[in-house]
Amino acid sequence: MEQMDSHLRAWQDSGVEWLPQAGGPLHIPLAVTSPPDQVAQTATTIRANVPNAGQIGPGGAGLAASINLPALSRSADLAAPKFPQTTQPDPGALFPREQMAPPPQRSAEGPPIFELPVLEDYQRDRALKDLAYKVSQCKKCPDLVRTRTRTVFGTGPINPQLCVIGEAPGFNEDQQGEPFVGPAGEMLTRMLAACGFDRQEIYICNILRCRPPENRPPLPDEAANCRPFLVQTLELVRPKHICLMGGSATKYLLGRDEFIGQLRGRELDWRGIPVTATYHPSYLLRSPAKKHDAWADLQQMLLRMGRTLPGK
Ligand code: URA
Repeated sequence: MEQMDSHLRAWQDSGVEWLPQAGGPLHIPLAVTSPPDQVAQTATTIRANVPNAGQIGPGGAGLAASINLPALSRSADLAAPKFPQTTQPDPGALFPREQMAPPPQRSAEGPPIFELPVLEDYQRDRALKDLAYKVSQCKKCPDLVRTRTRTVFGTGPINPQLCVIGEAPGFNEDQQGEPFVGPAGEMLTRMLAACGFDRQEIYICNILRCRPPENRPPLPDEAANCRPFLVQTLELVRPKHICLMGGSATKYLLGRDEFIGQLRGRELDWRGIPVTATYHPSYLLRSPAKKHDAWADLQQMLLRMGRTLPGK
C-alpha cells in the first residue's frame, strides 16, 4: 500500500492530476479480437479494475488476458520442424529462414517472437554483448558516425515484462552510452515507477543507436540501417510487452505513419508481442497537459499485461 502511494505520488509530482480514484474515463479500444469466452472474462476484469468500466462493452476484449503467449520448450525448440515460409522474414532477423515457424497471423514481417527457437539465457546474454560490439563498430550512417560520441545500445534484463523503445539517444545518452539518462529519462523513470516498475527490471532501447545531429528525428534511411539491430535485440531479449514512446517509435517499429495521438489507445502488436503506444517523455515535458492521456495509456497497458492498477 505504501509502495502504491509512493507510485501515485511520483506521478502526481510529475504533473498528472487525474488518477484512478478520480474516476475519469479510460479510452479502451473496442476492437474485438478474442474468442467470446475470453471477451467475457476480460470485460469482467476490466470492470473490476477500471473506474466507470460499466460503459465498456464486451468489445473491450483482449486487454488483460492476451499476454502469455505460448513459448516452445527447449527440447521442442531444438527439434523444431521446418515450416514453409510464405512471407519474407525481417531482413535483420537472427534466425535462418528455414528454422522459422509459420508466418504470423498478425504481422507480415516475421514469425511471432515466442515461436523462435529459445537459446539458453547465457547464450542470449553473450549474443547481446556481441551485438552491442557490432553496433559500436557500425559505420552505415555517415552523418551519425561523424557526430556521435559513442553508440547507445540498450539496458535491462532479458525476458523482461516490458521493453520501452524511444526514438534515439540525445546529448546525455551520447555522452554516457545509456538510453534515457537525461531529463526525458527522469520522466520515463517516474512514469515506470507510477506503473509499479523499477526501471532496472525494464529493457530500454531506441529506434536508433546513435544520436542524430542537433537531436533531429531519425531519417528513414537511418532507421532502416539500424532496424536489424533493433529486431535482433528484441529477438534475444524477448520482452512480454513493448511500450513505444512517440511517433518515431511507432513509425519505425510498426511502419505506421499515423500520429501518435491516433495510435495511442489501440491494441497493437509486433510479431506476437502486445504493443502499447504513448507519448514520448520529452513531449510530455513540453506538453504536461498530455500526461492525462499518457497515464490512461499506461493503465490500459497494465491491464493488458494482467497487472493490478496502482491504487487498486
Ligand atoms: N529520447 C529518446 O528517445 N531516447 C533516449 O534514449 C533519450 C531521449
